[in-house]
Amino acid sequence: MKRLTGKAILVTGSARGLGRAFAERCVQEGAAVALIDVLADAGEETARTLGATGADVFFRRCDITRADELAALVEQIQARWGRLDGLVNNAALATGLAGKTFDQIDEANWDRVFQVNVKGTWQVSKAVLPLLKAAGEARIVNLASDTAIWGADLFMHYVASKGAIISMSRAMARELAPFNITVNTIAPGLTETEATASAPERRWKQYLDAQLVKRSPVPEDIVGAAAMLLSADGRFITGQTIVINGGMTLS
Ligand SMILES: NC(=O)c1ccc[n+]([C@@H]2O[C@H](COP(=O)([O-])OP(=O)(O)OC[C@H]3O[C@@H](n4cnc5c(N)ncnc54)[C@H](O)[C@@H]3O)[C@@H](O)[C@H]2O)c1
Repeated sequence: MKRLTGKAILVTGSARGLGRAFAERCVQEGAAVALIDVLADAGEETARTLGATGADVFFRRCDITRADELAALVEQIQARWGRLDGLVNNAALATGLAGKTFDQIDEANWDRVFQVNVKGTWQVSKAVLPLLKAAGEARIVNLASDTAIWGADLFMHYVASKGAIISMSRAMARELAPFNITVNTIAPGLTETEATASAPERRWKQYLDAQLVKRSPVPEDIVGAAAMLLSADGRFITGQTIVINGGMTLS
């Protein structure tokens, strides 16, 4: 049984990697999906591939830090579907950040990570909120990272931004409960994507040594939790952080 038939879902940062996998799973579950990213060519290609199955998908180049681009996106969703039932806040600066102690991080780089990962997530959520409220029942799934839980070293700006996502999600869950909107966080461990291809060998080993499940995760290991949260199965789950790291950390 498809769990998201009749639902319209926006997945941010969905040109590649985990975002693409979230979008693909939503399509497999029967949803109509809007994809946005700053990577236009990859985004168009992803939408073409997902659409080839007959699914109702579109890609729009949209920077989550740009209120004007988000307003145009909301107009397009309104015109196309007249509704939005779910938002997966996946877009982030997640690559090329590691390797510096916190006192070596460049100030402009710190600000940019927070602008995209934290403020961008807030801006997308704010932009689509009227649509989510109008749906009568809706879901938000935010992407954090398990690095915020165990305190990964050598990219503190990223780690802190993902800690902020966990805190924001809890506050959003409280504020949006009266509107029948659930808000949860998924915190993956180190997962094989284009972005992590450059992660140092030391980090992969650190994860594998500590994980209870002795293999590195692929996006398909992560996306099922999002599908569950977006579906009716997730209706009583809100304000939670689901850590998916093969038991590297235990809560
Ligand atoms: N892969 C992992 O190991 C891992 C682990 C924990 C958490 N995460 C989180 O999962 C999400 C996806 O990670 P990924 O590994 O697929 O990395 P990724 O870099 O491939 O994905 C991020 C996507 O967001 C897009 N993006 C960046 N800035 C944007 C902006 N301003 N507006 C719109 N789109 C923008 C990128 O172009 C990219 O397609 C991120 O939030 C990341 O922090 C990943």
